Amino acid sequence: MEDTGTTVVGERVRRPDAPDKVKGTALYIDDLALSGSLWGAVLRSPHAHARITRLDVARARTIPGVRAVLTARDIPGRNLIPMIQSDWPVLAAEFVRHVGEAVALVAAESRDLAAEALRTIAVEYERLPALLDMEEALRAGEVMAHWKVRRGDVQSALGRGDLVVVEGTYRTPYQEHAYIEPNGMIGVPDGRGGVIVYGSMQCPFYVQKAVASALGCDLARARVVQTVTGGGFGGKEDAPSAPGAQVALLAHATGRPVRLILSREEDMAVMSKRHPGRVRMRTAATRDGELVAVEVDYLLDGGAYATLSPVVLFRGTVHACGPYRIPNARVESRVVRTHKVPCGAFRGFGEPQVVFACESQMDRLAERLGMDPLMLRLKNALGEGDETITGHKLTSSVGFRDVLDRVAASSDWSRKRAEYARDAGPVRRGIGLAACYYGVGLGALGKHLNPAGASLVVAGDGSVTVAVGTTEIGQGMITVLSQIAAEALGCPVELVHVVEPDTSRVPDSGPTVASRTTVMSGNAIRDAAAKIRAAMEPVIADSGLSWREAVALCAQKQVGLAAHGWAVPPAITFDLETGQGEAYMYYTFSANVVEVEVDTETGETRALAVHSGHDTGKVINPTTGEGQVEGGVVQGLGYALVEEHALKDGRILNDQFSTYIIPTPLDVPEIRPILVEHPYAWGPYGAKGLGETPVIAVAPAVTAAIHHAAGIRLDEIPATPERVWAALQAKNAGPTASRP
Ligand code: MOS
Repeated sequence: MEDTGTTVVGERVRRPDAPDKVKGTALYIDDLALSGSLWGAVLRSPHAHARITRLDVARARTIPGVRAVLTARDIPGRNLIPMIQSDWPVLAAEFVRHVGEAVALVAAESRDLAAEALRTIAVEYERLPALLDMEEALRAGEVMAHWKVRRGDVQSALGRGDLVVVEGTYRTPYQEHAYIEPNGMIGVPDGRGGVIVYGSMQCPFYVQKAVASALGCDLARARVVQTVTGGGFGGKEDAPSAPGAQVALLAHATGRPVRLILSREEDMAVMSKRHPGRVRMRTAATRDGELVAVEVDYLLDGGAYATLSPVVLFRGTVHACGPYRIPNARVESRVVRTHKVPCGAFRGFGEPQVVFACESQMDRLAERLGMDPLMLRLKNALGEGDETITGHKLTSSVGFRDVLDRVAASSDWSRKRAEYARDAGPVRRGIGLAACYYGVGLGALGKHLNPAGASLVVAGDGSVTVAVGTTEIGQGMITVLSQIAAEALGCPVELVHVVEPDTSRVPDSGPTVASRTTVMSGNAIRDAAAKIRAAMEPVIADSGLSWREAVALCAQKQVGLAAHGWAVPPAITFDLETGQGEAYMYYTFSANVVEVEVDTETGETRALAVHSGHDTGKVINPTTGEGQVEGGVVQGLGYALVEEHALKDGRILNDQFSTYIIPTPLDVPEIRPILVEHPYAWGPYGAKGLGETPVIAVAPAVTAAIHHAAGIRLDEIPATPERVWAALQAKNAGPTASRP
């Protein structure tokens, strides 16, 4: 066979899924019309915390055209969505614990009838006191998870007396994923006692477990198929298990297909969000800027049920001190239970909150030391041979210093730092820096979900069907995995077809999260491709045949060209008592330089430019890689500048895009994605993954730039005009009104 010498990996191959999405021919869940479908709807709690004293569905059941009304008592299996802790019911039984919690389900012939059925259900509540504040929940002992890191001796280091110590308390808000497509599911009875669930999701195997648990059936009878998904960002990781189980119950009860598509308001009210956070931090360094000790007290508001909060907290805990050499570190972290909507996975997964604190501390420290913030980072940057705060010795693929150098060069850091400091008018420019690192994959707490599978089938015409257990959620998985499959098989990339994830086609491949998809599914594909190549080689030898000719010859000789592949990462070990060990397999590194303009008369901040650097290992497709960076940066700018929720009695007041503000295209500044490639040997072709770092270290770079521009420190985001203006007023009222 001819050596195609394919170098499709690293090329800007066009997205196979793009044309249909652009033309509107892609079928999202709401586009699927199954004949005989019923409309599903959910009765939801109006209270943050209450006892259900009466729940009478008898009248609703008599409405003509209403085919099912279900309460917790009608669940054939367990009333439980399996996640980390066994606390999350499919339907509230005796208590409701957050506004919007599901109490009953209906399925009816029309949307209006479903709504009428909901109104007809008689439900009475005895209201109970609600815990709505995370500090209050902490005092009440409502701790869902508690992690720690113990490295060196922070107490004696802080007691030395010759160190410069800065401290602060930082607060971060809720953040909406703001996927354009709301959550939705369709359940279809399979005619043999099981159910097929189609829907918008990141993690078909999570939904499958929830469906099997609620129906009390075998996993193999709960088949889950992902439909084209309009964004996830973590919001379709844990949360879709609830509508998935609910729609399965309705389909099972009625024997008919049932659609359950959430409205935007319903989605915003009840689906997961980024956890609000509070971080207290003390950072100590020598007078020449060498970090000596960091102490962290990290608190997250988990909401009513644990969902993924313990692992979100874990990621924040082990990354709490940033990508720096720190001999003494003590991290204490807790996530507490409140009577609010459960928070869950969100791009960055517990890092953006703590990185806002950590990097704000670094900026403060640089100021106190009279040191350039870039120099402070470079001086302490992790390199090969260094250890993280969990004692993980990094032996390869540590491109952090390169990333810092590249963002500094791209932004002309030193010159602008000096130039912007001379701005004297009411509108002043500033430039700020922040960095982070990110352990890719499921890490010490998620090892059991690590393995990922792939199935490759080569058809007689040379086209290739690739099935994997991870999902395309807009990030470019189909593109990147097509390139990996083409490279590994030695076939033209146009012949590779990645099909929709279906739990009946591939083994449980874990969730599509933690920036793990390129590496895990990519390696599974390479494993399968190697088996196919091994079957082909003896047939085709050195015949110089093209791919299609080689496939035809194999068919003629009855050599089957299909294989399953499997990827299992190298083992890691971690001690949860000391917080020491390999928290994750390997890390990506990131730094942003942000330029802003602050109007000191109105408090308005405008981002001018973001130079966003990432050591992500080998870049499989520069275009999708740059897209990840651009999207993540915009999401980070939203977090930094505008996004927040207002709540009253545990109810979210701004539950629409007209009231929950996210950046629009007009708010997007110049973004320069900088991809630095320090290959990681176990990753496919050296790739490490890039989904999440782009969002993480944006907010602290923005507030550092605001400080550089206007001399004010914001320890709470978003940096709205009101907050900036108030800080400016406070500064001007103070005795030392001076620019840095
Ligand atoms: Mo994620 S936030 O690891 O889907």
